[in-house]
Amino acid sequence: MSEPRTLLTGATGTLGDELRPRLRKTGHDVRSASRSPPADADGEWVELDLADGTGIERALEGIDVVVHAATAPRGDSEAVDAGGTERLLEAAAEAGVENVCYPSIVGIDSIPLSYYEHKLAAERALEKSDVSATVVRITQFHEFVLELCGTIERLPVWPVPSGFWVQPIAAGEAADAVVEHATVEPAGRVEPVGGPEVRTAADLVRSYREVAGLRRPVVGLPVPGSVASGFRSGAATRPDRAVGSTTWGEWLRKEVE
Ligand SMILES: NC(=O)c1ccc[n+]([C@@H]2O[C@H](COP(=O)([O-])OP(=O)(O)OC[C@H]3O[C@@H](n4cnc5c(N)ncnc54)[C@H](OP(=O)(O)O)[C@@H]3O)[C@@H](O)[C@H]2O)c1
Repeated sequence: MSEPRTLLTGATGTLGDELRPRLRKTGHDVRSASRSPPADADGEWVELDLADGTGIERALEGIDVVVHAATAPRGDSEAVDAGGTERLLEAAAEAGVENVCYPSIVGIDSIPLSYYEHKLAAERALEKSDVSATVVRITQFHEFVLELCGTIERLPVWPVPSGFWVQPIAAGEAADAVVEHATVEPAGRVEPVGGPEVRTAADLVRSYREVAGLRRPVVGLPVPGSVASGFRSGAATRPDRAVGSTTWGEWLRKEVE
């Protein structure tokens, strides 16, 4: 097959923005999907809402590969990530899709956040589906860590959960890894992808404070519960899979400049 017809869900998201140009560059004929496609967007766009299924059949017409990056971490992830993935898979099986490539998250089976439970439900749906799939688990994006830093920036003292281990990666480098598997040859569960360094959340926040030129005290918060103990155990990291090369500090300096 010369040029796969590829549907990208979540095309307006952090990862989607990085995937679009990379898919095009590697020879995919890309159809991007969003609930509200941007008015000035280039290429082909379709409206798709995975929460209620609107637009799924139309989005999948003539598609060989689906890169499924739609998610609702701050919204109804049960409807979008769990139910929406099931709806997408049913329609993809009907449409004869060759491979659904799914970016997932490292540690979702050991950290019982409800968002992670819905991601896990999506992975299970992929395993059971009649459509073949490729699942690439990834650690947290630098972009996501920066967003979290923004939520504490205005506080006089910055509270950060104690002992949380993370291994952030630039979304662009995560997208490189996903695109490698966005082919008509499904590969099942592939090796996960992580950033270049494993650091504590407090340590990352201190780097942010330095790069942003701020002087707030960073205070470690002992957090009880199984979610916190999952992050403290290192379950969200894969030091043996440090695939990304841009460190948090390098990425941040470029972002803040
Ligand atoms: N963020 C991280 O640190 C991280 C780390 C590892 C893996 N991942 C995984 O990478 C993937 C992409 O994450 P991201 O951070 O790029 O997400 P994001 O920035 O929150 O983007 C979410 C995307 O999903 C779309 N979406 C939301 N609700 C939808 C619905 N009802 N129907 C259809 N589309 C919907 C949004 O598009 P519209 O609003 O335009 O519809 C948007 O394009 C996810 O599978 C995520 O679990 C993320």
